[in-house]
Amino acid sequence: MKVVGPTAATIEEAAHLLRNGGLVAFPTETVYGLGGDATNERAVAAIFEAKGRPRFNPLIAHVLGVADAQRFAQWNDLAENLAAKFWPGPLTFVLPRADRSSIALLATAGLDTVAIRAPSHPVAQALIRAAGLPLAAPSANRSGAVSPTRAEHVAESLGERVPLILDGGPCLVGVESTVLDLTGTTPVLLRPGGATREAIEAVVGSIAISDALPDGDSARSSPGQLKSHYAPSRPVRLEATTVFADEGLLAFGPRPPAGAMLTCNLSPTGNLAEAAANLFSQMRALDRPGIGRIAVMPIPQTGLGLAINDRLRRAAADDGAKRQG
Ligand code: TXA
Ligand code: MG
Repeated sequence: MKVVGPTAATIEEAAHLLRNGGLVAFPTETVYGLGGDATNERAVAAIFEAKGRPRFNPLIAHVLGVADAQRFAQWNDLAENLAAKFWPGPLTFVLPRADRSSIALLATAGLDTVAIRAPSHPVAQALIRAAGLPLAAPSANRSGAVSPTRAEHVAESLGERVPLILDGGPCLVGVESTVLDLTGTTPVLLRPGGATREAIEAVVGSIAISDALPDGDSARSSPGQLKSHYAPSRPVRLEATTVFADEGLLAFGPRPPAGAMLTCNLSPTGNLAEAAANLFSQMRALDRPGIGRIAVMPIPQTGLGLAINDRLRRAAADDGAKRQG
């Protein structure tokens, strides 16, 4: 496995690998992705293989913008209005597959819909452009583990399963994209993420929340949304206002309780964007020998807090299905 900075030469090398069905880990503004040619069934199979990911959990196709998206998905007015506001950026649309969509069937897990987004990270864009392909890219970690927000995390999690990692530094958003189902008249939030519910509702009005989110308890509607996900290997205790001596504390705000074995503060000033950017790397930092459990302070359930709390609840859940994505 090779870790390289993004230059014209390394991006061309990566694009060459991708055109030949190989895999490349690359930075996006949300988390690092494990990319492959979304139109090549074998490349997509290699992604599932490298992650140890169940094949019923479909992948997002990454494109440069609306023109490309329209080749692979049936576009509609909701998508048009949301793309104008959020693309490129951390918002993924689920749309019906276009009639002659060349996206691999394995990438969409045999569904008649496709998930598609245009990332804003310049390295991701340069790579998609150089490859001349839509890139299927789940987060670049072993299935069920915490998503990578730095090149080192990718190397630790995937090792020799990925031949080339483009190192673009830390991801600025830090939580995955928001996934929004646009196949009906009312958009449905399938996964809270880097684009906030409030900002989306400002464009399209009220949206529905999938009952697959950890708060809901009925049958799930999005294939990848099993409760336990993003799991550190230690137990996680939420809503902690006091802390035990054997715990690592994931703090938020100016007044963390004293007495933890180790404290990481998501945002001493209580800023949710900063907290999202720090979330996965601090969860990793606390998930280490000597620490018995990770205690997490309450995080407000507004703006990016929805995505942060969603990931934390999945990290705390233990429903015996820790290998989903
Ligand atoms: O920020 C992100 O979205 C990152 C970066 C690399 O772009 N990617 C990412 O991919 O998080 P992944 O594979 O870890 O998550 C994709 C999510 C899963 O929850 C999956 O179930 C859902 O999108 N999804 C994909 N296709 C879908 C479809 N056709 N219908 C419903 N949900 C879908
Ligand atoms: Mg993932």
